[in-house]
Amino acid sequence: MLDTSAAIHPENASQHTERSTGVQLGMITQITEQNNALLLMGEHFNLAIALVDGGSIRIKTFRGQEPNWKTTPAIAGPESQSQVPLQWTAGEERVSVVSGNTTVDINRKTGSLSIRNGEQQANIVSVQRNRESVGDYTAFISLGEDDHIYGLGEKTGFLDKRGERYTMWNTDVYAPHVPEMEALYQSIPFLTMLNNGKGYGLFLDNPGKTVFDMRSYANMAMLQTWTGELDLYWIEGPTLKEVIVRYSELTGRMPLPPKWALGYHQSRYSYMDEKEVMDLAHTFRDKKIPCDVIHLDIHYMNGYRVFTFDESRFPNPEQMMARLRELGFHIVPIVDPGVKKDPMYAVYMEGVDEDFFCKTAEGDIYTGPVWPGESAFPDFTESRVRDWWTEKQRFYTDLGIDGIWNDMNEPAIFNETKTMDVNVMHGNEGDRKTHGELHNLYGMCMSQASYEGLKALLEGKRPFVLTRAGYSGIQRYAAVWTGDNRSFWEHMSMAMPMVLNLGMSGVPFAGPDIGGFAHHTSGELLARWMQMGVFFPYCRNHSAIDMLRQEPWSFGEEVERICRQYISLRYQWMPYLYHWFYEASQTGLPVMRPLVLEYPDDPQTYNLCDQFLVGDSVIVAPVYRPNTEWRSVYLPEGEWVDYWSGERYAGKQHIHVHAPLAKLPIFIRAGAILLEGPVRQYAGETVADEFVTASIYLQGGSGTSSLEWYEDDGLTFAYEDGKWSKMLIETTESEQALNVTAKYTARGYEPQRASIQFRIVGLAAVPQGVAGSGGQVQVAELAQQALGWAYDAERGELLLKLPDTADGIELNITL
Ligand code: GLC
Repeated sequence: MLDTSAAIHPENASQHTERSTGVQLGMITQITEQNNALLLMGEHFNLAIALVDGGSIRIKTFRGQEPNWKTTPAIAGPESQSQVPLQWTAGEERVSVVSGNTTVDINRKTGSLSIRNGEQQANIVSVQRNRESVGDYTAFISLGEDDHIYGLGEKTGFLDKRGERYTMWNTDVYAPHVPEMEALYQSIPFLTMLNNGKGYGLFLDNPGKTVFDMRSYANMAMLQTWTGELDLYWIEGPTLKEVIVRYSELTGRMPLPPKWALGYHQSRYSYMDEKEVMDLAHTFRDKKIPCDVIHLDIHYMNGYRVFTFDESRFPNPEQMMARLRELGFHIVPIVDPGVKKDPMYAVYMEGVDEDFFCKTAEGDIYTGPVWPGESAFPDFTESRVRDWWTEKQRFYTDLGIDGIWNDMNEPAIFNETKTMDVNVMHGNEGDRKTHGELHNLYGMCMSQASYEGLKALLEGKRPFVLTRAGYSGIQRYAAVWTGDNRSFWEHMSMAMPMVLNLGMSGVPFAGPDIGGFAHHTSGELLARWMQMGVFFPYCRNHSAIDMLRQEPWSFGEEVERICRQYISLRYQWMPYLYHWFYEASQTGLPVMRPLVLEYPDDPQTYNLCDQFLVGDSVIVAPVYRPNTEWRSVYLPEGEWVDYWSGERYAGKQHIHVHAPLAKLPIFIRAGAILLEGPVRQYAGETVADEFVTASIYLQGGSGTSSLEWYEDDGLTFAYEDGKWSKMLIETTESEQALNVTAKYTARGYEPQRASIQFRIVGLAAVPQGVAGSGGQVQVAELAQQALGWAYDAERGELLLKLPDTADGIELNITL
């Protein structure tokens, strides 16, 4: 792309005109039912319709007698034809398919489709096929005035994607991530349409290039494939949440990560040698700034050869890892897909000998330049190649490593097109396809190999994989970081809608490089970004070579203090965070949520993305501009409590909040139950006085609340064998009394703590009676007691401490 005004030279203007579209499906000439699918033969091509378990409808174009029902690796379930029997009728005007509350009408003259479910209606005005090309289908979906669009994975811009145009083509974008960038590293061709609080989803399962244009046509969205068929899933709602639950049923859910991966990660391109890594680790511990993970960027390798260590920089990796483990650190090394073309390098020669690398159509190994120079690229679409890569992870696991960082896996190649030649061939399990047809799968298949490799080798421990590139379903294998952002305030604020929409696209475990990767951060930006970043699901500070250092202590004492305070807060909130990660692993619903997900009937939330929810009842509203101490915060319906001061605000209003540099505005919904534990220096650290505090935010009158809090060992897959616990905390509040019960509904895992605390927030006076928690003591004495309660008049809080036993707890408080 030209970067002067010549870019808009009149002679270049035609480059921007829309590609012409082609022929319509046209008159339907034949209708047949085959294996639970309806085949509609059109004038120019055909359409198949099948119902998918769990409330989706699959609509697929095809030519010839029958469609190819093979699914891409995005689909988590077993590959099979639809098991759901069809009910359909054919009238003169239309063919109708009925499934539950959903009806699909296909116009027999035009082939247009309308899908109705209650008040929701999706109109696929037309499906067209381009005349010149083999693939290249276009579907036009009608858009109503009040339609809002969410999802679409990792994209620039705001939360509501109405009015935007995006390309799904995994791209290594070092150029700054600006709103006009149509493609970044991840491609998730899935969106949710919201209309008056009700939604449905559309998933275009095509891993070649696809376009989602919600800008060029006033009342329509255009979905286009560049290669291959249009394989479209309509996903039933009617709520936004149900759409995400169903989409994630289709494409799979995040396995519960190890707790340490939820801790704070520190990275730098690169920590250059053993001394630097060890100094870094000791500095964290000396300064009492919690940290679980240190990343090793490309310099750890010998000439950037994957599965090697540079002997002069890291003379004894095994010993270094052991020392770091003792300090409570996990090491996550970077592993790129490019294997250096070097006949003296065993990994390359294995790949050559075993035919593991991607090849041109003519059969030569394809190579392209990346960090190590000319490199070959494993064909991860083949399971035999993934098996090889899986086994190769042993190099790391033998050193005690249990996390891997997959970068450059778009794949990024240092050439004009930034990636592999689209004519390179992939084996694709016997169904050979060009790279152009499968491009967006490459990164995900690589992460699948990494994840499965670690899982097989870690003897029951949970692996952690971080990836830059991905496709729908990536959540099954890896967490996602949002690539090479910059130390711009704009990028700090853009990280919110980006990660919120990743969450709305089935990818709950995501986050940006805190502080910004490229460009130079400032103390103020780092402090503000850290406050925000500790509430993102994935929390890593990473910066590029040659840029100012941005470890938490790089900008003097004040910034260091703020970083320490907020990183510590993340660890304090770990029981709450982990609970919501568990929920995400079960339902696919995100940990970090846009307000629209919880308040879809409130138009104020439709494009609200400079504040967000953690779980369903905590609002975080970061300051994302320099030299700014005040910000406006929107509180939706209900009553909201300032986390720091306890001050209460009525909902459905904007409030003006004072937030000097050390303060991140946090609001808790009245009626919520928050879980906090002690500050730890790393997730697995045992502290002398283990406790959990369940804070109950009173509703000031009447109401009930509940939370079924999940726990397990946070480290292994033992939870799959029932080694987990759930404690159901329920409260009933009236003007006169508060009743709290906490009962283990499952106790396959026994928490390692003696006591549990309750903190009743919002109690104006000392209660008249407290039954179930011993006698009254002073606030300062409570820590020494096994049983007792205290009233903190200054904060208006009642604190209760009880032994945490299998028997359960009942508290009756007379107000
Ligand atoms: C890419 C990655 C970045 C990494 C660098 C060197 O730019 O996105 O995170 O530090 O490569 O490996």
